[in-house]
Amino acid sequence: MTDSYKIILDEKELPEAWYNVLPDLPEPLAPPLNPATGQPVTPDDLKPIFPESLIMQEVSQDTWIEIPSEIRDIYKIWRPSPLVRARRLEKALGTPARLYYKNEGVSPPGSHKPNTAVAQAYYNKKAGVNKLTTETGAGQWGSALSFACKLFDMHCTVYMVKISYEQKPYRKVLMHLWDGEVYPSPTDRTNAGRAILEQNPDSMGSLGIAISEAVEDAATHDDTNYALGSVLNHVLLHQTVIGLETRKQLELAEDKADIIVGCVGGGSNFGGMILPYVKDKTSGKNIEIIAIEPKSCPTLTKGLYEYDFGDTAGMTPLMLMYTLGHTFEPPGIHAGGLRYHGDAPILCNLVKNGVVSPRAYTQNPVFEAAVLFARTEGVIPAPETSHAIKGLVDEALKCKETGEEKAIVCCFSGHGHFDLSAYDDYLEGRLQDYEYPEDKIQEALKDLPKFPTGL
Ligand SMILES: Cc1ncc(COP(=O)(O)O)c(C=O)c1O
Repeated sequence: MTDSYKIILDEKELPEAWYNVLPDLPEPLAPPLNPATGQPVTPDDLKPIFPESLIMQEVSQDTWIEIPSEIRDIYKIWRPSPLVRARRLEKALGTPARLYYKNEGVSPPGSHKPNTAVAQAYYNKKAGVNKLTTETGAGQWGSALSFACKLFDMHCTVYMVKISYEQKPYRKVLMHLWDGEVYPSPTDRTNAGRAILEQNPDSMGSLGIAISEAVEDAATHDDTNYALGSVLNHVLLHQTVIGLETRKQLELAEDKADIIVGCVGGGSNFGGMILPYVKDKTSGKNIEIIAIEPKSCPTLTKGLYEYDFGDTAGMTPLMLMYTLGHTFEPPGIHAGGLRYHGDAPILCNLVKNGVVSPRAYTQNPVFEAAVLFARTEGVIPAPETSHAIKGLVDEALKCKETGEEKAIVCCFSGHGHFDLSAYDDYLEGRLQDYEYPEDKIQEALKDLPKFPTGL
């Protein structure tokens, strides 16, 4: 086994194709439904907001989808990203486990998000579309799409969840730097935003509301398309470069993953890391795959497996997923990117079929793990990523108890350089642990659209 810290692949080893898990899922993915008809969505339903190439990727049954050279050339700015052995964290914990983190924080915007932003901008540009709209929670996705649009000379409009807009002013500056146009959502620019403001002028927004605004903006402008930073099949597909590189890097280190942990907002960094491992698990290999979410937005651990809208206003197709109800407005905890009422249907399918085990944490223990990580490995995790770090630490401590020498791999989805106010709150004892009350969850679930599950 190598004694290196960083396991680095040469640029030539950047994956040439994305891995599509759809043909390998334990159970076929239920189709998204058109809310007007209750029938499966057709490619034509999606054409007003997505280019045909991405719609085809959404439903493709091909196992491998070639990555165009123009996208690979941009990926090379930061990819292949390093896989790092967290030796100092291992020592601090006194664990016999081998801890690895795949550092997606090295991309220019600071997270895994440009893996799909670059691809989505490329396919839209190729289809002759020069304007994209999107939503952003923590600001990572909005900055990734602004970056990608800049590289393809396109215009980008971002609806940023208001609480993050206020908590993270520098994310907004980053988007401006890459010429993105940013609005705190809910806005008065769209019908969806105006309706929310009428009901609650102090609304701090949610990802569901911001998605409604961005989709409406794209659907009502012929020259504009919409780009989603998570949840959809093609987004998870583009993210599989993470897991594909990790597999090669572990081989290089003469090791293999016993446990994989990652954080889940909509499921894209987690999916990107674990999908290339799904066949190992379903063919009987002993590998544990753990998805971590916040207790304040416990979609996988407390949600229902039902058809629901992807946005608050009910404009998107219905997807079969674990959901807290599309009207769920999560509290303003700092991990803005994990405050989504649903999750990627692919990930939900894997949870339902026992391939992935979900787990939820409150934020103080999460920050405690993140601070330990920063003080040993030096790198500061984003609050979202810190959930994965807490999972990594807990699994390492279990190994300490049992004496097992497992290899535990964590997807380090992004750095926290723009999240220092959250760290300040933690260090000053101002962070509150919050578990979303069961009665509030039940209330939001009452608004679920009535459609059969498991078609
Ligand atoms: C750093 C980081 N990690 C994780 C997430 C969660 O998103 P996803 O579950 O799609 O990876 C976000 C979302 O904004 C993020 O910024």
